Amino acid sequence: MKVDGTHYRTIWPAADGWAVEVIDQTRLPHAFVTVRLETVADAARAITSMQVRGAPLIGATAAYGLCLAVRRDPSDRALRSAFELLLGTRPTGVNLRWALDDMMGVLRQLPPGRRAEAAYRRAAEICDEDVEICAAIGDHGLALIEQAWERKGKTGRVNVLTHCNAGWLATVDWGTALAPVYKAHDLSLPIHVWVDETRPRNQGARLTAWELGQHGVAHTVVVDNAGGHLMQQGMVDLCITGTDRTTASGDVCNKIGTYLQALAAFDNGVPFYVALPSPTIDWTIGDGVRDIPIEERDVGEVTCMTGRTADGAEASVTITPEGSPAANYAFDVTPARLVTGLITERGVCAASADGLADLFPEHKARAP
Ligand code: MRU
Repeated sequence: MKVDGTHYRTIWPAADGWAVEVIDQTRLPHAFVTVRLETVADAARAITSMQVRGAPLIGATAAYGLCLAVRRDPSDRALRSAFELLLGTRPTGVNLRWALDDMMGVLRQLPPGRRAEAAYRRAAEICDEDVEICAAIGDHGLALIEQAWERKGKTGRVNVLTHCNAGWLATVDWGTALAPVYKAHDLSLPIHVWVDETRPRNQGARLTAWELGQHGVAHTVVVDNAGGHLMQQGMVDLCITGTDRTTASGDVCNKIGTYLQALAAFDNGVPFYVALPSPTIDWTIGDGVRDIPIEERDVGEVTCMTGRTADGAEASVTITPEGSPAANYAFDVTPARLVTGLITERGVCAASADGLADLFPEHKARAP
């Protein structure tokens, strides 16, 4: 997608052909800064500090992290230790393990001397595949937006509510939940996005609002608690969110607060769709509430807020009383029964074991 008129992906090989560059998402929306990653430790740090985030982009960064590791030391021991380091960066999204397993499958069978070249080739393919997958999600999701537009008698605009950032910044390009929005906008469909701010890290207010604005898509930032009210007032035509891990039975795990929006949507008869690339499906588990590990992050993200002051400086302020305990659960699970449909690169299916197995028959035997 474009930043001030220039096309960017979120991750790309540097001009020297071996280092990797990413957009530092901790600096957005107030500064557009790119960062150079030179070692596997740099890649791991970029993921844990959330300079890069979003399940597909985390997977792509981990893939390049292995490239940086084997470039320095292609031995089995170094490869294993890079794998462990990267795998431990964030626990909830499954693309991370998917990308690492994919890379290890390629690298383990090669002699050390041939690993670096193969690693860079496969990491680039993983990125290209992510772009293709997200573009296809956009095409399938576009049909749902067009249907909503038809249902409204082609008057007014289609109002989509989204949570967190599942736009191009969370992937290599296009995004998952926002890919259909971009496709609709590019076809001149009148579309407007309600952007949940997404406390505590405000990926909605900081990132989704920024990328929609860069692309010229109409949007309004609302507090996370506004969704229920908007839906009661008929101001939301459909919800589309992303997911960091989807079970074989269609439960989806996404940024904390997604479940509450799904409950409000269910109560108000608003369609609630979840967009996902197939690498976010964990075919080994069926019960998301029981089996998906929920990341718990530093409570400082809850007790403090960071933003720009009137003089343009970045500042962090404390908003809770000194001594009040806080907790920071980063994700929640929305059970499949609350999900109207899953938008995948192969089409839209019911959020159920049968729905997913119909689209991905090659995994049917593995589903629990
Ligand atoms: O903690 P984050 O910012 O990595 O969480 C991201 C999300 O929850 C996204 O909705 C998710 O990764 C889906 S991305 C296409």
